[in-house]
Amino acid sequence: MKELLETIRREALTAVSAAADPAALEELRVRFLGKKGQLTAVLKQMGKLAPEERPAMGQAANDVRAAIEAAMEKARTDLQAKALEARLRAETLDVTIPGRAEPLGHRHPMSIALEEIKEIFIGMGFDVLDGPEVELAEYNFDRLNADEGHPSRDWSDTFYFDTDSRVMLRSQTSPMQVRAMDARKPPIRIIAPGRVYRKDEVDATHSPMFHQVEGMVIDKGVTMADLKGTLNLMVEQLYGKGTVTRFRPHHFPFTEPSCEMDVQCHKCGGVGCPTCKGEGWIELLGAGMVHPRVLEMSGIDPTVYSGWAFGMGLERTAMRRFLISDLRLIFENDIRFLEQF
Ligand code: DAH
Repeated sequence: MKELLETIRREALTAVSAAADPAALEELRVRFLGKKGQLTAVLKQMGKLAPEERPAMGQAANDVRAAIEAAMEKARTDLQAKALEARLRAETLDVTIPGRAEPLGHRHPMSIALEEIKEIFIGMGFDVLDGPEVELAEYNFDRLNADEGHPSRDWSDTFYFDTDSRVMLRSQTSPMQVRAMDARKPPIRIIAPGRVYRKDEVDATHSPMFHQVEGMVIDKGVTMADLKGTLNLMVEQLYGKGTVTRFRPHHFPFTEPSCEMDVQCHKCGGVGCPTCKGEGWIELLGAGMVHPRVLEMSGIDPTVYSGWAFGMGLERTAMRRFLISDLRLIFENDIRFLEQF
């Protein structure tokens, strides 16, 4: 019997030290110490022993039970510690790992150029207006003094929605002049940036959709000198001090007199090169004194008020501002191009 107890102790201790988790320990407790366990089975046979042998054997059995219980208790504590350690390791947050950088976008060169233009004019007291891209002929042509038969009204130039040529995609931002005069009373100082549409084939300088910025001032005693002073100031702020401009006579139906403003070529300094097509100058905008009939049609008395207006191509302005050589780059959205600004 003594040997049997020793075998149980050895087997139990070996099994306990190998137990992988609390469930395995519990199984071992039942197997060795439970009511139907091996140790209990041995104790049940005590009755077969001679009475004088019983105390010693009882003592030995208790020692074995105590040893197994102690080993189990220690194994349980060890397993718990191990489990806690594993959990801590699994749930560790390493705050020293460098973060994953989210790629940050930035503004398109056209938006940058427009922001700059807006700031220049807002600084001079202009309001910024927004208007419809689907426009009526009344605003796009009639009230801008462009009669039926004016070449820009031709179907080959303008996108119309109807057969009577009354509704269209606006071909210029100039209708915003009329909308401003309808909505406000002089003095008026506004710019109106936005998209315009023309039936042009895509090439290095043309696109059927492009952007313009319209500008208009109406007040008492406004002259061409104000127009030149304001536009020269804009160009210097946009392209740098000392940027040279020139004003050429031109014709627009809604201004009289009319002009176009050129900026001296940034590439060749006015000598002539491929960028300016040998001209030495790059055309930037059309402008002029608002035609008296245009004022009249909007209910403004041309004997009291005068005004000037301009319309500039935003793509051209951005191309000159950022030295971009091909208009198509602006619309292709190639990240390698856009990232440069
Ligand atoms: N709307 C003209 C165009 O698209 C540009 C223009 C010329 C606008 C003269 C004006 C102006 O306001 O006064 O070609």
